[in-house]
Amino acid sequence: MTTDVQLPPRSPRPIGAPLDRIDGPLKVTGEARYAVEYPADRVTYVAPVQSMIAKGRVLSIDASAAQAVPGVLAVLWHENAPRLAPPRDDQDLAVLQSDAVAYRGQFVAAVVAETLETARQAATMVAVRYEEQPHDVVLSADRGDVFTPEYVPQKPFGFYPADSAHGDVDTALAAAPVSLDHTYTTPAEHHNPMEPHATLAIWSDDSESVTVYETCQGVSWRRDDIAIAFGLSPERVRVIAPYVGGGFGARGFTHPYAILAVMAARVAGRPAKLALTRQQMFGPVGYRSPTIQHIRLGAGGDGRLTAVAHDVVGQTSALYEMTEPAAVPTRTMYAAPNFRTTHRLAHLDLPANSWMRAPGESSGMFALESAMDELAVACGLDPIELRIRNEPTVDPETGLPYSSRSLVACLREGAERFDWARRDPTPRTRRVGRWLIGTGVAASTYPAVQLPANARVAIDGAGRYRVSIAAVDIGTGAWTVLTQIAADALETPVEQIQLEIGDSALPQAFPAWGSTGTASWGWAIVEAAQALRTRLHDEFGGVVPAEGLDATGSFAGNPEGQQFSMHAFGAQFAEVRVNEDSGEVRVPRLLGVFAAGRIINPKTARSQLLGGMTWGLSMALHEESVLDPRFGDYVNHDFAEYHIATNADVGTIEVAWIEEEDQHVNPLGAKGIGELGIVGTAAAIANAVYHATGIRVRDLPITLDKLLR
Ligand code: MOS
Repeated sequence: MTTDVQLPPRSPRPIGAPLDRIDGPLKVTGEARYAVEYPADRVTYVAPVQSMIAKGRVLSIDASAAQAVPGVLAVLWHENAPRLAPPRDDQDLAVLQSDAVAYRGQFVAAVVAETLETARQAATMVAVRYEEQPHDVVLSADRGDVFTPEYVPQKPFGFYPADSAHGDVDTALAAAPVSLDHTYTTPAEHHNPMEPHATLAIWSDDSESVTVYETCQGVSWRRDDIAIAFGLSPERVRVIAPYVGGGFGARGFTHPYAILAVMAARVAGRPAKLALTRQQMFGPVGYRSPTIQHIRLGAGGDGRLTAVAHDVVGQTSALYEMTEPAAVPTRTMYAAPNFRTTHRLAHLDLPANSWMRAPGESSGMFALESAMDELAVACGLDPIELRIRNEPTVDPETGLPYSSRSLVACLREGAERFDWARRDPTPRTRRVGRWLIGTGVAASTYPAVQLPANARVAIDGAGRYRVSIAAVDIGTGAWTVLTQIAADALETPVEQIQLEIGDSALPQAFPAWGSTGTASWGWAIVEAAQALRTRLHDEFGGVVPAEGLDATGSFAGNPEGQQFSMHAFGAQFAEVRVNEDSGEVRVPRLLGVFAAGRIINPKTARSQLLGGMTWGLSMALHEESVLDPRFGDYVNHDFAEYHIATNADVGTIEVAWIEEEDQHVNPLGAKGIGELGIVGTAAAIANAVYHATGIRVRDLPITLDKLLR
């Protein structure tokens, strides 16, 4: 870049600096507002009424008692709710549009009232009569009605075919000197970000446009879904989400509560707030599908894989189809001449499942990386050595070269840091008192994807920049990292950058999901910065005009995306202690070594990976949504019964990464890290539990009953 423009003196490069979170002071002082914390004049409150049956229809609703409560403004149900236009994908967004009930917990009515307490009280007084039909909610591998989805994970994001095959797996398995055949399962899990799902909807006085404060991962998408439902052009909907209390996939897609809040505000003619309770978070807002994963591996005596088969059965809803794409990571992990992966689905009478941190990778890599550990045992090989022997030179699925792949370097670096060489592979050989001690390893991977984005960069007469993009910081550090990227591209100190995000009025971008944010939004910002500098140089001779100047930039798609296989990798190490008497599992130590291209900010990156690994621990030992087939619903609807890892469950977690230069993924050389950290952690812990006890747990979570012989 030329430097003959009038710019502030060049600072040390902002990219790579451990900058503190720009939004940190706002978060800790409560200045950073979440959706329903915004003030609104004459605001009303919405409380949904949820279906008590899993399948059937609403026969009648008696709202008289609820309507008689002082302060109740309206009771809405399918007979009196405003008509909506049909949703584009998820039929659950047709809120209160019919008498049909597709799952237990679906919204069948709602109360709008002057206060939150009144709304909730009155919601309990709405009398609903149902015609109940038999429901079908239990997943099994031998159901006769599983089907092959058209794409995984879902339309319109049909990134991957449901099945893949190379060579002849069955013949190779039959001929393999060493083979294994096991089924691994993962349970349903519910994501629970700190901020519950919440919306504040404020219609304009003429009812022709609406402003929506929303806990979402993507303002542009949310705007589109609301515009479609209410028959508005997108410019008439403004979605604002500058600060969001966690995402995790829970709010990538629009859920019914948001539509309901906007509807309630329209009916009341006043602003409306709807915040789900924690209990309601275990329902009509998405969850991770359970999986049943059948893995067969064949190998030579030297541990080199000759055949890999990974067949996954999962579930989805009647309203919206989405696959937990658990066999997808298997397609890129190891070299084998004979290969087969499949996904099958059952339509069940349950809420729509959705994205949850590393959908597919976190569940699938538990199975694959447990199986690889079992193969290492069967071959009498060290599990790190086994993985190194099966390292592919090109992507096994596509034959494409990797833009960069540093799995082996991660394994080696981790082995060094974890003192792996001193490990005696024999199970049940280390103990302290009644605690059996074991260590385990597993690999991690997540695709490096970039999605289209647009950005605008403006400079004012004083030389300060304003960088605008409809990105959302769901707690990842996007505020900070995008500021660093902009400062770097503009060759200016970060103090000179004022970032604007979290507003659908800004240049359009995809949501914060699929670990695509930094790469995609960052690319658009780099383009916009270059466009501004070119304009400044070419049109203004490098002198900023008094009234300032701006330029937009777009990133439409990575031209090298079809030429390279792009993934981040990592190696997870775990030490566990298992109490011989109680079966209790403790995890005193985790180590993750990752390779994710260039790390833009080591401080926020470490937080992301630390959080992912902590969730992986939680997945390994605690998280499980328990279905009661009689009710047709998951029944552990709070943190008393849905267990997640707390501080006391987490010992030492060490996060490290290796230098990786990748010139193909994007101009920043950065791969996403939001989801990488959870992948493989549960397998590393399960493998360590095997090493400690000699007991192989193939069904998550690893609860103590599974360890008592
Ligand atoms: Mo993340 S589960 O892709 O929102």
